[in-house]
Amino acid sequence: MATIRDVAELAKVSTATVSRVINSNGYVNDGTKKRVKEAIEQLNYLPNDVARSLFKGQSKMIALFVPDITNPFFPELARAIEDVTNRHDYTFVLCNTDNDIDKQMDYLNALQQKSADGFIIVSSSLREEDLQHIQVPIVALDRIISPDISSVTVNNRSGSVQAVQYLKSIGCTRIAHIAGPEHVDNAALRLRGYLDEVKHEDWFNSDYVVSGAYNFDVAREAAIKLLTNYPEINGIFAGNDLMGAGVLNAAASVGKKVPDDLAVAGFDGIAIGGTLTPTLTTMAQPIYDIGAKAAEILMTQIQSAEYGVAAEELTVRLIERQSTLKGGV
Ligand code: RIB
Repeated sequence: MATIRDVAELAKVSTATVSRVINSNGYVNDGTKKRVKEAIEQLNYLPNDVARSLFKGQSKMIALFVPDITNPFFPELARAIEDVTNRHDYTFVLCNTDNDIDKQMDYLNALQQKSADGFIIVSSSLREEDLQHIQVPIVALDRIISPDISSVTVNNRSGSVQAVQYLKSIGCTRIAHIAGPEHVDNAALRLRGYLDEVKHEDWFNSDYVVSGAYNFDVAREAAIKLLTNYPEINGIFAGNDLMGAGVLNAAASVGKKVPDDLAVAGFDGIAIGGTLTPTLTTMAQPIYDIGAKAAEILMTQIQSAEYGVAAEELTVRLIERQSTLKGGV
C-alpha cells in the first residue's frame, strides 16, 4: 500500500507538498501539481476518505433527508435506500430534519462540503430555489419539490378515493377523514381524494374533516371530539397509519366497537399496522419499492454526466384487516 512518503519520493517533492495537492490548500505550481498527481495515479495511492473525496471529487456517500424519524414509515423507507446504495458500494447517511428549512439547509451545505455525491429528500418545505446551489443529483421522494426535480411518489389522490369507496362498499354511511398537515402535498392530495368521494353526498358535513397532523396523539384527540360530537359517524379514513392507530385508540375511549360500530382505514402500510388490536386496514404504499426506486434513480444520475428529470408514481394497494372486516379475518 503506497504511502504519502512514496508519492513524495517519486514526485521529488516534500510530503507537505503532496498534502497540499491532495487537500487543495496552499500554493503549488502547475508543474509540481502535475508530477504529484501522476505519482499518485502511478502508485494508486489513495489517502483517507476526506482526502480521497477532495482529490477524486466524489465521496461515494449519499444522504437521505426525512422529516420525522419517529414515524415508522421513514425507517422502512431508509432500509430500502441503504440496501440499494450499499449494493453500489455507496455509504449512506440519514438526516432527520423536522421539515425545518434551516436544518435542511445546514445539512445540505455541510454534506456538500463533504462531497456528498447525491441527495434523496423527503421534504414539504424545501423549494427548488433552495437547491439551486447543489451541484449533485437530487431525487425528491414521497413528496414532490418541483416538476424540475426527479421524484418518486404514489397515487395519493386515487388511492384515497379507493379507500372511501371501500368503506362505502362495506356499509359505511357517514364517513369522516383525519387529514395530514395541509402544507404537505400528499396529505392535501389524500384529502382531495376523500372529498372527491363524499362532497356530493347529502350527509356530508365539512366538520367530518379534522386534522391529525400525521401524528398519533393529535389524531386520537381529534377523533375523540369528532366521534363525541358526531356519533352517527360509522367510517373513518385516516391519511396515514399512525393517525389510523390514534383513531382505534379514540374509538375504544368513547366506547365505539371497531369494526361493528366504526370501520377504520389508514394509509401507508407500515408493518406495525398488522400488529395493532384490531389490526389496521390500510392503503399500503410499496414502501420498500419507492425507496429502492429513488435510490436506483439517484445511482444512475450520479454515474451519468447528463440526466433528465425522472417522475415515477407507484400504486398503493388495499390491505383488509380487522378494523373493517366484521367477524374478523
Ligand atoms: O406517515 C408519514 C406520512 O408522511 C406518510 O403517509 C408518507 O407518505 C409521508 O409523507
